[in-house]
Amino acid sequence: MFGKKNGTVTEKEILAALSTVQEPELHHDLVSLRMIKDIHINGGQVAFTILLTTPACPLRGQMERESTEAVMAIPGVEQVVVKFDANVRSDERIVGRLQIPIKNIVAVASGKGGVGKSTVSVNLAVALAQQGAKVGILDADIYGPNIPTMMGLTADNLPDPVGGKLVPPMAYGVEVMSMGFLIPPGQAVIWRGPMLHGAIRQLFTDVAWGDLDYLIVDMPPGTGDATLTLAQSVPVTGGVIVSTPQDVALEDAEKGLVAFQKLQVPILGIVENMAGDIFGEGGGQRAAKRLKVEFLGRIYLDRAIREGGDSGRPVVALDPNNPQSESFQTLARVVAGRVSVANFQAAAAPQLKVI
Ligand SMILES: Nc1ncnc2c1ncn2[C@@H]1O[C@H](COP(=O)(O)OP(=O)(O)OP(=O)(O)O)[C@@H](O)[C@H]1O
Ligand SMILES: [Mg+2]
Repeated sequence: MFGKKNGTVTEKEILAALSTVQEPELHHDLVSLRMIKDIHINGGQVAFTILLTTPACPLRGQMERESTEAVMAIPGVEQVVVKFDANVRSDERIVGRLQIPIKNIVAVASGKGGVGKSTVSVNLAVALAQQGAKVGILDADIYGPNIPTMMGLTADNLPDPVGGKLVPPMAYGVEVMSMGFLIPPGQAVIWRGPMLHGAIRQLFTDVAWGDLDYLIVDMPPGTGDATLTLAQSVPVTGGVIVSTPQDVALEDAEKGLVAFQKLQVPILGIVENMAGDIFGEGGGQRAAKRLKVEFLGRIYLDRAIREGGDSGRPVVALDPNNPQSESFQTLARVVAGRVSVANFQAAAAPQLKVI
């Protein structure tokens, strides 16, 4: 019978066994994190579901092994089936401040132009969607919006507004919104401070975003007005800094980092992009170490990545088995894991005081 005493194995024993298994990133056990559900016991056969904090969980294999081992150690258990489900936890501040159904906002930025922010944003978004998350991408580069091109979309793909709100078109399983849909191609727009502020804010509030687990925000180059506006307009769950591998990248990464820190945006970590023969590798990793932030991963300089961007078919979507795609898939899992940790820490902080 489901979830009840049957034979010698009990739900209580299973929960006790699973309370010895840690969520490797959150450093708490699966039971106290309320990640165990649907325990089924049938004689010596036990099944349960681990409710992950992200479908892109990098450590599900480890949790599966460890929880199987723990439950198998209960006398009478002959077989263990572990299932997975996911419920991405929300950055509670977003729900409180804006009436938008978005659980987490992740800004991709750098201190410098042309390092691959948009490329990383696009492939990160598509990889998260492939892993089962609900994802949107917001092009906050309102001066030079190129997310539509990279996602293979044009203004023609923009549906008619519904209830006064813009409806984001979908590409590769990702909802996309950009000023690029609204500004005729080739037309330069001069944004003044308040207009810029309004425009970026409207991309959040005047767009009919779906229920998103993650909204990836592709930032314009530099650390100026747009970053300030973003941080003032919405609670940003975390910032991802993109850096190239050269050692000078440290300065740029630091600029990006400082800008976020000043605005109290948590830093998820640094991605090293364009690694390889020409630019070398390791600079991003060294920057992360020196700046004491997480190193999120390395993406190599590769023709398939550039061609994917130019042709509007991101490499992760076009060729998921390409080694570069695998790097982006890994990056997506790492970023999702860091978001879970950021939310967990934010939620745990006041509770710890009470205890
Ligand atoms: N890992 C990579 N391998 C090959 N080409 C890349 C890689 N990353 C980015 N590129 C290419 O480099 C160029 C700049 O990338 P991208 O537009 O993503 O940078 P950006 O930081 O968003 O630039 P901007 O600061 O202008 O917004 C693009 O042509 C892109 O296709
Ligand atoms: Mg860009």
